[in-house]
Order: sequence, then C-alpha cells, then structure tokens
Amino acid sequence: MPDHDDDDVARALRSITPLRFFCGARRIGEAPIHPGEKSLYDGVDPKVRRATSTGRMLARELLRNLGITPAPILRGEGGAPIWPAGIAGSIAHDDEFAVCVVGTADSGADEEWATHANLIGVDVEPAHGLPAEILATVLVNADERATAGDDLVNARAIFCAKEAVYKMSYPLERKFYEFRDIALVRRRNAGGRYFPPSVMVAGPNRLHFHTSTGLEAWVTLVRTPRVIAVATWARELGRPPRGRRNSPTREAL
Ligand SMILES: CC(C)(COP(=O)(O)OP(=O)(O)OC[C@H]1O[C@@H](n2cnc3c(N)ncnc32)[C@H](O)[C@@H]1OP(=O)(O)O)[C@@H](O)C(=O)NCCC(=O)NCCS
Repeated sequence: MPDHDDDDVARALRSITPLRFFCGARRIGEAPIHPGEKSLYDGVDPKVRRATSTGRMLARELLRNLGITPAPILRGEGGAPIWPAGIAGSIAHDDEFAVCVVGTADSGADEEWATHANLIGVDVEPAHGLPAEILATVLVNADERATAGDDLVNARAIFCAKEAVYKMSYPLERKFYEFRDIALVRRRNAGGRYFPPSVMVAGPNRLHFHTSTGLEAWVTLVRTPRVIAVATWARELGRPPRGRRNSPTREAL
C-alpha cells in the first residue's frame, strides 16, 4: 500500500489542473459498471476492468458538476474515451490510482486547427524511476536529458508528460505519436535564463512541449505523491508557420 490516499493524489492533481476543469483521483477497486458500457469489459482481464471502471466511475462523478447525468463513456478511435457532446476530458490509471479531468469543450472554429479549443490530457505514474533501458527512447534531445539530470523519477515525469500530450492531441489530430515526436522546448528569456527552467522541483512544474506537427502544449506536472502530468494546448504560442513543421528531434544528439 502506498503511503498516500485518494485525497493526496487528488490534491496533487488539483494543483496542476487549470481551474476551468474538474478533476479527481480514486484508488482502483471494484467499481459499478454502467449498463451501457458492458461491451468494454467482455473478456477483459480483471485488473484492466477494475482500472477502467474506476476511471469511468470517477469521470461520471466529475461530469455531474457540469450538469451531465450519468451516461456511458465508450471507447472511440485510437482508444480515446467518447465524451458527451460539448465535453473535453481525459482519464489515466496506473496500478493503484485512476485520475480524471473534465471540462467544457468550448468548441469553436476560431482558429485553423481548432475543433476543440479546450483540449486536455492527463497521465499518472508511480513515483519510481524510469527503467534505464528505455531512457534513450523517451528522452530525445539535450534539453530533456538536462532536465531529467541523473534522476530517473524526472525521466519518468518527462515520459508521463509526453503521454499526456499525446492524449491531449488525439481528439484534434487523430495521430499516433512516438516519444521522439514530442519534445521539450526551452527558450532563453531576455535575461539569458532558460524558460521554462531546467530544474524539476517537488511542487508543480510547468514545461513546454511541441510535437512533430507543430502543436504546442503546456504540461504541468508533479513528482509526488505520484508522477502526474496535465497537458493543455498552448494556443497562445500559436501555430508555427507551415514551413516550420520540422521534427522536434532536430535537436537530438
Ligand atoms: C493512450 C496511451 C498513451 C495510454 O497509456 P497507458 O499508460 O497504457 O494507460 P493510461 O492509464 O495512462 O491511459 C489509458 C487511458 O487513456 C485514454 N486513452 C487511450 N487512448 C487514447 C487516445 N488515443 N487519446 C486520448 N486518450 C486515450 C483512455 O481513457 C484510457 O483508459 P480506458 O481505456 O480505461 O478508457 C497508450 O495506451 C498508447 O496508446 N500509447 C501509444 C502512443 C504512445 O505511447 N506514444 C509514445 C508516447 S507519446
């Protein structure tokens, strides 16, 4: 049993989730299955059933805050949850906890890429170091390696951030990303200091990532009590000009 409970994980998630979203965390267990979701569980391993049903129970609880009566949340293209009309959300689970974030989709065609203006992605991981054998796959450029340093929990945080960016991007792009397609971005500010900074702190961190298609994302993350990342579309950073659709791995080695 970890030394933290639902409230600890929920507090950590709240600290990194934009205020316009509802969020929560729940220890994975036997959870009621919505009759409309039975097809999700046919022949499924009990461990997966518990994780998925706990995540969806939590999602329904959060959706009540938005006036949505309990409804099935089926699985759509690429495994993404199908949210009720007008809702943006994301679910994640590790071996112990399920987390969920939901809000209003704020649909609008105000920008070229905007089908959903309020994209969100979440991921949760135990606060253990990333296995060293996958470091080179996950950390694809010098900034990522510098940010992780020699702390494998930092490396897991970057892993978690990339999964959150993938989930955030999916409803917009319907695109499968590899780790090398999502990269940390650092810039120097007027004072010559890096922004975002390269040091991971115990409290909330805010990092900037971009994808090989030029999608910009802010990722806020915590490393304790679990590694949790929330990705949102950084629309204010704008879409890069068409010519700049180069791979983020251009900075790699
Ligand atoms: C989606 C993915 C990242 C989930 O990672 P995971 O650690 O296995 O599982 P998590 O618990 O964190 O997340 C699972 C939840 O993510 C959501 N999800 C799955 N596919 C999704 C997608 N394409 N878009 C948005 N959300 C998705 C679902 O809600 C799922 O839970 P559910 O099946 O109970 O509904 C992973 O399964 C995947 O498809 N990876 C391929 C892409 C990838 O990893 N590339 C390298 C990193 S960018």
